[in-house]
Amino acid sequence: MSERTIVSGRTIAVVMAMPDEADPVIAALGAEPIPVPTGRPHRWWATQVESARVVIAVNGDDRRFGIPAVGPEPAVLNTAAVIDHLHPDLVISAGTAGGWASRGGSIGKVYLAHPHVIRHDRRIDIPVFDEFGLGSFPVATAGELAAAIGAEPGVVTTGGSLDESPHDRRIIEAAGAVAKDMEAAAVAHTCEILGVPFMALKVITDLHDVPATNAEQFTANLATASARLAGHLVAMLRYLAHHNPGA
Ligand code: ADE
Repeated sequence: MSERTIVSGRTIAVVMAMPDEADPVIAALGAEPIPVPTGRPHRWWATQVESARVVIAVNGDDRRFGIPAVGPEPAVLNTAAVIDHLHPDLVISAGTAGGWASRGGSIGKVYLAHPHVIRHDRRIDIPVFDEFGLGSFPVATAGELAAAIGAEPGVVTTGGSLDESPHDRRIIEAAGAVAKDMEAAAVAHTCEILGVPFMALKVITDLHDVPATNAEQFTANLATASARLAGHLVAMLRYLAHHNPGA
């Protein structure tokens, strides 16, 4: 699938799942809360980063369980609402992810999704539907962005679970993915349907090929990894405000 280029400037929306992931970047940017559409659980902040208006769009808490609404469905609703109401020129899915030491991953390492994001837990063994299930959504490109912000480019893969089932593992290995999250491909799919360029920036909180559980690692590393993500995300937004790739 061919890559798309983006025109920088104007409005960039950053879709995030958890306040713990978003708070450091909101603080670093000095972003202010803005209204969300009536009845929606999302929480949005906005600020100016040089020439770009930046919106940080957090999915919001789950109404029933009162916890941050992680996973594909809340991310889709939030992304669609941001696109409908704020008309961003680019959407970035940013947050934490699992990685693999055997593929060069380490806690706190930051990956820029490239050249696509995929899903690893939609298996539809019927011609064409199989590829549709996997997704493979191309990301927008922006010059030497990854190198400029100290992120490594690689495939990001999305599913609904924190752990990695044997089925997931086979698909993830075949895709050569370096980071596994619960939102990127859902956000990318929404962007594809609505015709908005998409990127993803992910920081590793836990590894799938070490003895400790993902949940233990995630909890222990969430704060420090999110602080690192914020630094890279601010650098990415400044870069995108300056560069006008392909335009
Ligand atoms: N977010 C942080 N760690 C993750 C993992 N291992 N899988 C999916 N999403 C994650």
